[in-house]
Amino acid sequence: MGAVVIVDALWGDSGKGKVCAHLAVRDKAPLAVRAGVGTNAGASVTLDDGTLVRARQLPTGWINPGTTVAVGSGVLVDPAVLAGEVARFGLAGRVLVDGRCALIEPGHVEAERADAHLAATVGSTCTGNGAARADFVLRRARQARDEPALAPYVTDVARHVNDVARDGLVLVEGSQGALLSLAFSDEYPYTTSGNCTAAAAMDDVGMNWRLVQDVLMVVKALPTRVGEGPLPYELPEEEVLRRGIAEYGVVTGRPRRKAGRLDRDLLGYAAMLNGPTQIALTFCDHVDPAMRGSRDAAAITAPVRELIEQVEHDTGAPVVLLDTGPGLSDMIDLR
Ligand code: IMP
Repeated sequence: MGAVVIVDALWGDSGKGKVCAHLAVRDKAPLAVRAGVGTNAGASVTLDDGTLVRARQLPTGWINPGTTVAVGSGVLVDPAVLAGEVARFGLAGRVLVDGRCALIEPGHVEAERADAHLAATVGSTCTGNGAARADFVLRRARQARDEPALAPYVTDVARHVNDVARDGLVLVEGSQGALLSLAFSDEYPYTTSGNCTAAAAMDDVGMNWRLVQDVLMVVKALPTRVGEGPLPYELPEEEVLRRGIAEYGVVTGRPRRKAGRLDRDLLGYAAMLNGPTQIALTFCDHVDPAMRGSRDAAAITAPVRELIEQVEHDTGAPVVLLDTGPGLSDMIDLR
């Protein structure tokens, strides 16, 4: 056993949360841990009873009742967002937060909302993450261990993830996407406030690389981008609406800009940064509507098969999961 690090190849919103939930349930993972920047992320999963779950702070692995969920020390924590998710999902008793996480305070959110550069130029989610990280770096942030409301959850998550990974499966759920990385994007300032590669995700949670079994890179069949910055092969909004493939941000509700195809050079670059051993190809139904809701490998259509071959060629890793719709079970597991 060991850790599976789940990261996004491009600009995020690719269904990492659903992939993490699927693996937690299917592989009965005892622990899922959030990596990535913080509450600027938004994962959504539709459960089989139709309930839509949206999470910004905790990994979606909680959907498996036997999975404990944790937040690594490199992830920014907003105590109000965390409390809301613990209450909404009924998670008291199986949540761990590293005491060293820096806190997002209301003032950080207000400062970002009032910052025209962030709001208008960068297209930030203005959820206080960059401002909180700035205070952390300047060594004046409060940490999770300074907040009494978080006391029931506080522990050394780095020690816990390494202990559990020695004998069991740990899912490390990254956030954002490699091309939004602060130091690896060629599109600064159209980036987020930290790096979003597999190495960064390991670092966010303190996972020793020797305990990493797989890096599962999530590739969205038709990539999207929210906020500003270039998006190759961007489709006109009317075409997105006409084809019924429109998407809206979980955190901000903003429409996501959508590409008509993958940029193969960028995908290769993302694979170089992340070193994936496995690929999850998501939103296949947006490439071929005939795939919507399919759960069996026999249902894979010619256009999707062609895309799988191309993605495997460009990333050097096998496609092991195919996502075919918004529901948790709309997934073909090829492992
Ligand atoms: P910030 O990280 O909220 O400051 O946002 C900076 C840029 O990263 C903006 O373009 C956001 O839309 C984008 N971004 C931040 N988090 C996510 C995410 O989880 N998914 C997709 N885009 C994100």
